[in-house]
Order: sequence, then structure tokens, then C-alpha cells
Amino acid sequence: MILELKRVTKSFGGLQAIRTFDMAVRRGEIVGLIGPNGAGKTTLFNLITGFNNVDQGQIFLNNVDITGFPPHRMASLNVSRTFQIVKPFSNISVIDNVSIGAMFGSTSKVLPPKEAHHKAEDILAFTGLLDKRNQTAGSLTMGQRKRLEVARALATSPQLLLLDEAVAGLNPAEVEDMIELIGMIHQRGITLIIIEHVLKVIMTLCQRIVVLNYGSKIAEGSPQEIANDPVVIGAYLGEDFDSDA
Ligand SMILES: Nc1ncnc2c1ncn2[C@@H]1O[C@H](COP(=O)(O)OP(=O)(O)OP(=O)(O)O)[C@@H](O)[C@H]1O
Ligand SMILES: [Mg+2]
Repeated sequence: MILELKRVTKSFGGLQAIRTFDMAVRRGEIVGLIGPNGAGKTTLFNLITGFNNVDQGQIFLNNVDITGFPPHRMASLNVSRTFQIVKPFSNISVIDNVSIGAMFGSTSKVLPPKEAHHKAEDILAFTGLLDKRNQTAGSLTMGQRKRLEVARALATSPQLLLLDEAVAGLNPAEVEDMIELIGMIHQRGITLIIIEHVLKVIMTLCQRIVVLNYGSKIAEGSPQEIANDPVVIGAYLGEDFDSDA
């Protein structure tokens, strides 16, 4: 297993955001994480990447207990994430946004600027942003900014990449582009966990889906199993959900 969460709990004041949660992810998998607003999906990413500390339970990366590691240590272990609210450095260029990630993002060794620049160029080509390289990040469209967010995460050479609503706010064509990009990232051997309300993304890409509700796992299974699970339909998908849509 590349990642294991064992009986993880997290409260904010009186609110139990994550309740005795278990999850295991195999190397090379794409796992979908779905559930209603406030279910605790982003909180799980914050716990895995060290932005929040667990109250109880343990988190393992490649069988090593990494519970309590801060974000920079998780980055140095090549665990990378995107944020639900994109936050590029708006006033600097697209290429510099990615170069900074390449320079400081992973391992304890700082990558020299020239190498970081080359790496950033490769990633911009891969993410379809090379022709925007000299524009400021703030001038990009929403679709391009979401891809830049993914590019910045890729700059740290992740083994495990966590995508938090990578297609929120995108039009259908941009959603298709992002599905293709995520598929290409997976083909590179990167393990992915993706949070998404746009279920087409989840149903197209994921081998396995975990469903959260009020901080608890209410279901886990293949896209087909999840789409037909009455508990999931009741809590999240609704009666009208059509798994082929
Ligand atoms: N730092 C925090 N302080 C206090 N409460 C928090 C904090 N982070 C999250 N919460 C609360 O924890 C619960 C889970 O939030 P979380 O952001 O993980 O939900 P989510 O499943 O990502 O929802 P969405 O689909 O809307 O993004 C919510 O009730 C939220 O208000
Ligand atoms: Mg969220």
C-alpha cells in the first residue's frame, strides 16, 4: 500500500469532521473521494498532507508511519496536492509559478534554477500550457488556472497526487481536457486520489470510489457498485442519478 489511514479522527471544536476513518490505496490506483458538501473530503487531504494534524489514528506512507509530519516533510516524500480554491502567484509568470515548485517542492535538495526551468517547461508542455509560459498566472482563464495548479503539483515529482475538485467551475470542454490530463498523469505511474462533485470525472477515471458522509465512510467500491448503492443514492447521488450520464 502506498497510503493507509487507520482509525483517523479529527474534530474542529465540537464538530467531528472525520470519524474513525480507514482507507488504503495501492500504488498506481486512482481512487475517487465523493460525498456531500462538508462531508470531510478536503479535511482528509489536509490530514494526509500535514496541513491539519489527526486527533487520533495513524497515517502510513509506504508502510512508514508519517502521522504528524508537517506539509514540507510530506512534500519531500513526494506527496503533493492541489487546492479547492486555486492560489497561483497571480503576478508572476506561468513558468515561474511552476519553476518555484520544481526548485523547492520536493526532496531536501534545492534544484538549480536552470534545471528547475527545464523541468517546468516539460511540465507546461505536458499540461498544455507551454504557449502561456510568459503570461502572468492572473491572466489565465479558469480552465488554464486549474491546469496550472496541477502543473505546480507535478513540479514536485509526486508519487501520490491529491486533486481537490480539479474541474470545479470548468465548462464541459475544459472538463474533458482535465479528464484526459488526469489519465495521462496516471499513465506516468502516479497514484491519485481525486475529490470531485462532477461525477463524470470520477466515474470515467476511478477504479475505486470511497464515499464520505458526516466524516464517516458510508460506502466503498467500483463505480458501478457505488452508482447502484442505495445508501449512497440516499445520502448523495439522489434517485435521478444516471451512472451513464
Ligand atoms: N480549519 C477548520 N476549522 C473549523 N472547521 C473546519 C475547518 N476545516 C473544515 N472544517 C469543517 O469541517 C467539515 C468538513 O469540511 P471539509 O472542507 O473537509 O468538507 P468537504 O467534504 O471538502 O466539503 P466541500 O465538498 O464543500 O468542499 C465542515 O463542517 C467544515 O466547516
Ligand atoms: Mg472540499
